[in-house]
Amino acid sequence: MTGAPAPSDRNSLTLGADGPILLHDVHMVEQMAHFNRERVPERNVHAKGSGAFGRFETTEDVSQYTKAALFQPGVTTDMLARFSTVAGELGSPDTWRDPRGFSLKFYTTEGNYDLVGNNTPVFFIRDTMKFPHFIRSQKRRGGTGLRDNNMQWDFWSLNPESAHQVTYLMGDRGIPKTYRHMNGYGSHTFMWINAEGTRSWVKYHFHSDQGVEGLSGADAERIAGQDADFHRRDLMESIDRGDFPSWTLSVQVMPYEDATTYRINPFDLTKTWSHADYPLIKVGTMTLDRNPDNFFAQIEQAAFEPSSVVPGIGFSPDKMLLGRVLSYADAHRYRIGPNYHQLPVNRHRVEGANTYTFDGPMAYDHTGDAPVYAPNSMGRGYADQTGPSEEGWEADGQMVRSAYTLREDDDDFSQAGALVREVWDDQQRDDFVATVTGHLLGGVEGEVLERAFDYWKHVDAETGGRIEEATRAGAGAPNPGGDDDAAKEAASDPVVEDSTHAG
Ligand code: HEM
Repeated sequence: MTGAPAPSDRNSLTLGADGPILLHDVHMVEQMAHFNRERVPERNVHAKGSGAFGRFETTEDVSQYTKAALFQPGVTTDMLARFSTVAGELGSPDTWRDPRGFSLKFYTTEGNYDLVGNNTPVFFIRDTMKFPHFIRSQKRRGGTGLRDNNMQWDFWSLNPESAHQVTYLMGDRGIPKTYRHMNGYGSHTFMWINAEGTRSWVKYHFHSDQGVEGLSGADAERIAGQDADFHRRDLMESIDRGDFPSWTLSVQVMPYEDATTYRINPFDLTKTWSHADYPLIKVGTMTLDRNPDNFFAQIEQAAFEPSSVVPGIGFSPDKMLLGRVLSYADAHRYRIGPNYHQLPVNRHRVEGANTYTFDGPMAYDHTGDAPVYAPNSMGRGYADQTGPSEEGWEADGQMVRSAYTLREDDDDFSQAGALVREVWDDQQRDDFVATVTGHLLGGVEGEVLERAFDYWKHVDAETGGRIEEATRAGAGAPNPGGDDDAAKEAASDPVVEDSTHAG
């Protein structure tokens, strides 16, 4: 630790060969003490994940929508990606049915830009306030320490806004074949601002160039037993052999003014925007070509935060996004420490950037004798934006606690129903019925089960009826795994995210 040679990594210092260990064996004490401190807490959600470095190349010209340096034509930006499951712990199997995290950190010339999305374009809830409750319902019960399907369905069925995401989760994209075979989405609506200050609303879609493929529930369960790190291994090995996975980024762009009149609330995270209304506009390609040299330093300590944006990109009135903007940096201060920004994997690449944030535990970067206060007369001024915020929006009214105001086409079930009826084929619907039935048979009971039947009948009367029938017929048959064992074909329907297409 100090650079001086260690006396022995094999034998501790004892009083005679058979005598007691001596406390002044500094090296031994140091080894034991450091060992007790060699973990940081796992992430509260998305604990199990894998990552790689790469680059993002902007191949198209989207400068009419954003002035962000990384999205100017021809610019290549170094980046880090981390993929994860949500509810499982650090050692949990990669192939459990769960959404997958899709976290990206772009080391841009204007500061780090983090896009912390999922492999689905929607989410289970639409208000931050519900997030801890939702996550607890998916993790372990207080009493038994077991995960519990009944608890999951209790939460979902009491929060019908979850229907779109749960339909996705139980569908053929619910378990990706590998991290390389899934799409990524920013999911939220973000703001883009161009050089003239014109604002637009955007949604990000990263389409896998490997194609989208899923695992059947049966294969996923088998693999979970054989190799809990199946997705981590696949990502690492494919990069090692030079088979670099890539994704094409496209965005949907909504003119700023459209947001007030669009037929659904465009900031509601449980909804997608119709591609017919807002078609995909290609931006560029992300390629992952370098594995981490050290998993702990570069992946476990990687700190992604939706609050890290750069000029030309802003937030939106999405009540989930705004909560996330506050939540992540706080999680990093707790999990890694207040100077997590200074770790090489998290450090920005901006030459000469100023900060008035100083010192604290494990401070490494410093600014010598530069002024520690602002304003000052030493030529190191302070940022001083005044007037309307360029990346802001108009908001006025009384402070309230309320759901979003409903628009013409806003409801909890119709986009989920369109996915089942209009995007999926018969095989996908059959598999879906088998998967949901398997899950319900894994311990869902009483009023929760009855509510779950209602939930699916609201999504689609016929499919819901089939789920009810199959579950009632199967009740009593043991199914401890709680997932389906129906064989499923991989799907790669490029418009599956657009459940509003025909609606
Ligand atoms: C208000 C709702 C949410 C809150 C409060 C929240 C909070 C958190 C927290 C505290 C972490 C752990 C961060 C860490 O310790 O490094 C996390 C991780 C993550 N969250 Fe969320 N989350 C929310 C919703 C979402 C949504 C909607 C998405 C995707 C669209 C998402 C994607 C992720 C991902 C991908 C990670 C893993 C980041 C990584 O790879 O290190 N979260 N979330």
